[in-house]
Amino acid sequence: MKKILILAVASVAMVSQAQAADKSFAEGKKLFQENCLVCHNAELEPAQAPPMFGVQMKYKMATKDKTSFVNKVTSFATHPTKEKALLKMPVKVLGLMPDMGFEEADVRKIAAYIHDEEFSPPCNHWKHAADRFKAEGKMKLYKKHQQKYDAMCSTSTDKPKVKHAGARNTNITAEEGSLKAIMQQLGMDYAAVDEAILKEDLDAVAVAAHGIAFHDTPSLGTKMKLMGSLRSEMKGFKAADGKVHHLALDIEKAAKAKDMKTVIAKQSQMLSACMACHTSYRSRIIDILK
Ligand code: HEC
Ligand code: HEC
Repeated sequence: MKKILILAVASVAMVSQAQAADKSFAEGKKLFQENCLVCHNAELEPAQAPPMFGVQMKYKMATKDKTSFVNKVTSFATHPTKEKALLKMPVKVLGLMPDMGFEEADVRKIAAYIHDEEFSPPCNHWKHAADRFKAEGKMKLYKKHQQKYDAMCSTSTDKPKVKHAGARNTNITAEEGSLKAIMQQLGMDYAAVDEAILKEDLDAVAVAAHGIAFHDTPSLGTKMKLMGSLRSEMKGFKAADGKVHHLALDIEKAAKAKDMKTVIAKQSQMLSACMACHTSYRSRIIDILK
């Protein structure tokens, strides 16, 4: 009887907590629609402000949890300055967000909502921006927007092709373009470097190392998922990838210079670099991508 009562009380507490969360989400959403959507509307053409899809991503990557996310968004939106702005390109193209004299208490609720909302990818915004930048001859900006559009919005079922720069092997079991498939290719290229070292075939070392240095990159959807979950740790993840990239380049260079001693030293450093990333991120990322 007592047990049942405790359970009942606990579940009432849980339900009311969930209801409170729903209520503040709805309140934040309403305030967002009333105060922010005039400009931050992804369907406006020309755009008046960056869509929240990208703003949320950028702020998640710059913060480690919801509290610091809310603080950072609130600090900016109540008193925008160039120094605080994380979105350098929109500031350049649209100008700094004007100080609208928003109430801090309201903006806090809005910021919490922005953190939790699942914004759809702003497909029309990306398409319009791509077309406009292309017409204006701004090819770098055109490419940036077109790539996002192709990755997140295009209905074509074409999967990115895995380009095997190094060792060739058709034993990749993971889905083409997935992070796992890229890793399986890295594993094979890594083994190919080892084998080529043992056979003292420096040309083959150079080819396989090149494959490691210029491995495929995961799809934009996968990257978005990683950024949204790893947040400020994304920098460390990218740095771990950069370390392997540089060591692979060193190996390729040493192999071309017929410098076996350096090849061997760098190859063992590379194994440590691969494992350092696995230790820090592998199991978490497997969870994130599940
Ligand atoms: C009058 C138009 C306008 C309104 C209204 C507006 N914004 Fe903005 N906002 C902009 C523009 C333009 C930018 C892009 C330039 C920049 O980053 O400052 C921007 C950028 C931002 C950014 C990213 C800043 C950065 O670069 O780091 C945040 C966060 C933001 N707005 C939050 C809000 C919130 C929250 C509201 C509502 C309470 C709001 N905005 C209302 C125009 C507006
Ligand atoms: C930036 C981080 C990072 C670096 C650097 C890295 N890996 Fe990985 N690796 C991962 C993650 C994350 C997974 C798990 C992927 C999954 O299962 O979705 C993984 C998985 C693997 C797998 C297992 C694939 C499978 O079939 O389950 C192999 C093999 C592998 N990595 C090889 C390597 C090699 C070789 C290197 C160095 C040349 C390397 N990795 C460097 C992050 C990294």
